[in-house]
This record gives sequence, structure tokens and C-alpha cells, in this order.
Amino acid sequence: MTSNLGWWTDAVVYQIYPRSFCDGNGDGVGDVPGMVSKLDYLAELGVDAVWVSPWYPSPMADGGYDVSDYCNIHPDFGTLADADAFIAGAHARGIKVLIDLVPNHTSSAHPWFAAALMSAPGSPERARYHFRDGLGPDGSLPPTNWGSLFGGPAWTRITETDGRPGQWYLHMFDTTQPDVNWTNPDVNDMFDDVLRFWFDRGIDGFRIDVADSLHKDMAFPDTALAPNGFGTCMPSNGHPMWDQPALADVQRRWRAIADSYGDRVFVSEANCPGRLAFLTPDRLHTTFTFDSVFCEWDATSQRHMIDHNLRLHDDIGAGTTWVMGNHDQTRPVTRYGKRITGWPFPESGVTPESQKVWAEYLFPWPTDVETGRRRARAIVLLYLALPGGMYIYQGEELGLDESENLPIASLQDPSFFKTNGRTRGRDGCRVPLPWSGQVAPFGFSPRPDAEPWLPQPAAWASLTAEAEEPDPNSTLNLYREALRLRRETDALGAGSLSWSDAGDGVLAFTRDPGFGCLTTFGGPTTLPDGADVLLASQPVAADGTVPAETTVWYRLP
Ligand code: NOJ
Repeated sequence: MTSNLGWWTDAVVYQIYPRSFCDGNGDGVGDVPGMVSKLDYLAELGVDAVWVSPWYPSPMADGGYDVSDYCNIHPDFGTLADADAFIAGAHARGIKVLIDLVPNHTSSAHPWFAAALMSAPGSPERARYHFRDGLGPDGSLPPTNWGSLFGGPAWTRITETDGRPGQWYLHMFDTTQPDVNWTNPDVNDMFDDVLRFWFDRGIDGFRIDVADSLHKDMAFPDTALAPNGFGTCMPSNGHPMWDQPALADVQRRWRAIADSYGDRVFVSEANCPGRLAFLTPDRLHTTFTFDSVFCEWDATSQRHMIDHNLRLHDDIGAGTTWVMGNHDQTRPVTRYGKRITGWPFPESGVTPESQKVWAEYLFPWPTDVETGRRRARAIVLLYLALPGGMYIYQGEELGLDESENLPIASLQDPSFFKTNGRTRGRDGCRVPLPWSGQVAPFGFSPRPDAEPWLPQPAAWASLTAEAEEPDPNSTLNLYREALRLRRETDALGAGSLSWSDAGDGVLAFTRDPGFGCLTTFGGPTTLPDGADVLLASQPVAADGTVPAETTVWYRLP
């Protein structure tokens, strides 16, 4: 058994969402050769590892989180040889590679599901998924009241091969993402093989999608009714879809495989209350801290959130992680530029109360992008100075904002369709990156006439990597300098911190040896006497005045 503290404990991990990162072949969709072409950019940025969102064959009903073949590369993204080149190229630059494991569900286009549809109720093929008879005299009612996380019911009724209405299958997400049945040995064996397939190809770990689900309560009890008319589906203690006791066995089984390869890592994507309990040396290594995504721009809230998560991780002997965004969340520049900054994705507008907040406070309030960008710059320096690892979602280093007004016809996220458009979904944070040039596709595609799969805003002309490169004050250069200093400064990375009393609206702490970090959430303040500024998210005055909404790293006198 390996320890839970390793290279990942203070790693800076950069998330690549393949179809929006860089298009190598000019079809408007990002791909693995495009990723290979940006390896030098990633090395120069100074990240320790990348996490690649699903690159597998997939109908893309849920942006690739609907996998039809776990041991191959989507033809739009390239080939296994391209993946090998990416892994080798990353390793040659000292960058580790994590990929996404999607074990809660397959795509409905997976051969197993096709076989299940062709087979009879009770067959071994059906037993790999959760097929159940419906309730009521004619089975026309779903087996439970469970709702799907994307909206609508979590069960869909199939038509049997004889043309009659048949059994129902479970899907926590889209109808095209049937949940597999983890009590079935085939499922366990198949994912063992998937882990080995990719570990054998040299990857350094997996980010585990919906790591807190997988097993379901096989008694299939109804859940409390949610305002949308379905049983609740969000993680909570004792919920039949989440954190079932048998989940620990799956995690132990995977850990034994990972450990047999050396210092490989599992990063858990989990929101259930018991998610920290996963982080023992016989289970998973680390987990995303989503509290930091949802924490508002406020000194007291941030301090509480930071202390709480450091304590939780210390208690269990694992390293903390900090996260500002990912492919599921509104980009931080936009979030911090809203009137309510701690509000998660608009998709949360599912209860009458949250709908009201959304309608009254968020929707009519335009984003103040300048404020949001200033705050996002301050927050990233704050988080990078804390003990723990950091996740950067592609484009955060350019200061990209959410595309809030994508044309409706371009939207692809199933949550937009499944909620009948009540939420716009997550496409706004998935717009292809701007690399260079004055007009779309901004170097995303090698062909100037290529149409990126989601339209890029014209305003991104000033936010391309090329435009930011020569500007010493650009967000790109702020990130590069922060990551360089982080590597070179003994006090940064894993370890501990000591808070200083810096007054209302200011968070300040020191780390040994000789490092200080100060963030002004409200008005300006002054640096301690003799502090030697290392890096600041906004310029610090010669007399040591730190402007509002700024983080400063300094050497202690
Ligand atoms: C979490 C992923 O991050 C998200 O993009 C996906 O829709 C769901 N899991 C379902 O796989």
C-alpha cells in the first residue's frame, strides 16, 4: 500500500477538454494532435500534470462522458498512436498525464448496452445494467421515483425485441448514459482491464467521474420528492444513488491495481458528504475541493472554506486541492463578476427559491467582466499560495470569461434539452480556446475558415495566448510567474500556514520559510514593513499600498 501523500499532493494540474483545446486537423473540433502541438505551451506555463477529459469514442451526447469504447480514441480526436505521442511528449517535458475514467455509466452506444437491448429480461446481458420491470399492472410506471441529474426521470422504458413496451433502465444522467450494475462481476472485470490498458500505456493516474456513485441501493427505495416532481437525486447521506457501502470495495480493488504500477494517482470527483472518507491509503488519493468553486468573493467565507478543507484533509492525512472551475462550471471570471459571486452554475435554478434568485438577481444583472477578471487573478494567487494541489481549467490562464449568450441553436449540453431550456447548461465554459490572430477561429484551427464547434466571442481577440504573451501584466504571464515562483519557493506547495490578523476584508498568512500572502477583498491596505513583493495580481504602490481586490505574494523582512 502506498501513502496518500505523493507527487500529486502539491501538483498543479491543468485540465484539457479535448474538443475545445486545439484543433490539429482543421475540422473545428479539438483533437489529440492539437494537444501534442501545445505541449511546449503547457511546459512553459509550468504545470506538473494534465488531466484529459474523455478522449474515447463516444456519440458525444454528454461531451464525451458517454463512452462507447474505453480502450480507444474518438476518431474525431485521433488515434491510439496520437495518444501515445501525447503521453510520451508530456513525459519528455516532465508533465504527468491523468485521464478520465467514466465508470458509473457507459454510452447507450456501448456494445454491452446494444447486447442488453437485444437480449431477454433476466439475461446476463441485461444484468450488466440496471434493467427492472416497471410498476403498476402494465409496468408502465418507473421502478422508482428517482430523477436524473440532467432533469426528467432517471428511468427510461425500452421496447422489447417483440415490439412490446418492456423493462426500464436506470440512467442518473442522460438517457444515452445507462448506469452499469457494479454488483455484476463483468463490470468489475471490465474496469480492471481498462485501468490496466491505460496504465500499461504509461498514464500516471485517473480522474474518476462521479466517483461517489457507481453502486446503487439494490432495494431501490423511492427518495424524497424534489420540487421538479421527481425523487431527489443530489448526493446526501443515505441516498440510494450515492456512496453505498460496496463502493469502498471497488476503490480498494482499483487502488491495488494502481499501486502495482508505482506512484499512480486517483482523483475523485465526488460531492457526497462522505467524500473525504475515500481518501485512505487503501482507497483513493485525492479529491476535488468543490467548496472553492462555490465560495463567494468574501474574506470571511474564503477563510472559513480554506480552514474547513485544510482541517478535513489534515484529519485524514491527504493533501487538499483547490479548484476554481472546470468544464461543468461557469468560468470564474464571470462568476466573480456577478452580483452574487458564490452562486454555482445557473443549472441550480431547480428549486422555486433558486429559480427566484436566478430570475431576480442573476439573469438581469450583466456580468462585470473587468471586476470578475481582477478577482479571479487575486483568487488564483491566493489558492496557489495555500498548502495543497491546484487544478486549472484550460483558458483560466488566459482570463477567459463564460460565453453567456451562445446562440440557442449552437447549444449541445443535454441539461439544456432535458430541462426544456430552463438552464442554458455548460456549453458557455467549453468554447474553443483562442490561441492567436484577430478573428475567430483565433488559431484554434489551422484553417482560418474553419468553424469551431461552438462560436468564439469577438472580444477574445485581446485574450489569445499570442496577444497575452508580450504583455507582462497579462493573466497568462501572471500564471506563468506564479507557477515558476511556486516551484522555486520552498515555502510553497505542501505544508502549513499561519494566519495573520490583517483587518476586516483582508486575508493574510505566512508560510515558512519567509513567505507572505495577502488578499484585499474590500478596500486597499498596506503591506507589512519591509515586505519584498514577489508577485501581485494588480500593481502595488511604491509605498506598499495594495489596491482593492488584489493578492500579493511577498518575502518577509
Ligand atoms: C461529471 C462530469 O464532469 C460531467 O461533465 C458529466 O456530465 C457527468 N459527470 C456525467 O458523466
